[in-house]
Amino acid sequence: MTNTSHFDLNNVAAYEQWKQEKLTDYPSKLEDLVIEIKDPFSLTKGEKSEIISRCRQANMVIYHTAKTWDENQPLLLSIMQQLGVTQLDHNLGAGEQGTSSLTPGGSAYANFEKYIPYQAKAIGWHTDGYYNAPDRQIQTLTLYCQNESEEGGENDLLDHEIVYLLLRDKNPDYIRAFMQPDVMTIPARMENGEVARPDRTGPVFSIISGHLHMRYTARTKSISWQQDEQTQVALKALEDILKNPLSYKFQGKLMSGWGLISHNVLHTRQAFKDNQQTRKLHRARFYDRMN
Ligand SMILES: [Fe+2]
Repeated sequence: MTNTSHFDLNNVAAYEQWKQEKLTDYPSKLEDLVIEIKDPFSLTKGEKSEIISRCRQANMVIYHTAKTWDENQPLLLSIMQQLGVTQLDHNLGAGEQGTSSLTPGGSAYANFEKYIPYQAKAIGWHTDGYYNAPDRQIQTLTLYCQNESEEGGENDLLDHEIVYLLLRDKNPDYIRAFMQPDVMTIPARMENGEVARPDRTGPVFSIISGHLHMRYTARTKSISWQQDEQTQVALKALEDILKNPLSYKFQGKLMSGWGLISHNVLHTRQAFKDNQQTRKLHRARFYDRMN
C-alpha cells in the first residue's frame, strides 16, 4: 500500500518531508529530463530504471530513440508494456491500435476533426482526459513524434505535484477547494441532439491508487467551476502559477524520434505551421501507471 500521509492536509510533518525529498535535485532544465532509448522494443534494465526514477521524481521523462521508427509499429504500447503499464484508453479519436495520430485531420472519428488536438492551433494548459469518467482517469500520457512541425509546436510541461506543492504552501485551503468532488464540471458533449458524453463533474486534485492526480483545463468555454469564494480564489492562484515564469516549467519541441512519458503532467502546445512535411505525433494514454 502506497503511503499517502503527505497528502493529508493535517499531516504537516509528512508533507514537509515529502516536499524536501521531491525538491532535492529536482530537474532545473529540459536536458535533465532527457534520456536515450536504443531499441524501444527491447528496453535495457538501465533504460527502464532511468525512466522509472525520473518519473518518480518529476513525473515525466523525455526520450529519444536512436532512429525514427516506422509509424505502424506500436512503439508506445511496447515501451509502456515493458514498464508494466497496459490499461490503454481507447478513445474515439484513436485508431485501431488505440493510439491517436495527432496531426491535422488525424482523428479516427470524424466528429473530432474540428477538435483542437487535430488542428494546428495552440492549446492552453491542461491534463489529458479531464472529460473522462471518474473511473477512467488518465494516469499516464505518452507521446512519440514521427515528424516535427517546421515552425512552432513546442510543448510547455509542468509537474502537477509541483503545482500542488506551490498551492499548498500558499494556502492549504486552495487544495481543499480543488479536492471538492464537484469543483469542476465539463458539460455534456452533444451530437445531433443526443448526449454523446454526459456531464463530467469531479475534483481537480485527487489521490488515485496512492498517487496524486490532476484534472484541469485552462479553457474558459464549456466548463463550469464552483462559484464559492474559496474555489474562485484558488483558481486565481492556480492561473497565476501557470501564467508566470517558473523555474519548474520546461519547454521543448519534440523532434522526429523524440517522445514523452509522463504521469499526465500539465502541458500546453504552441500553434504550428507546416510547409513541406506534416507534423505528426502519436499519443497513447493509460488508466494505470508505473509505481
Ligand atoms: Fe494534451
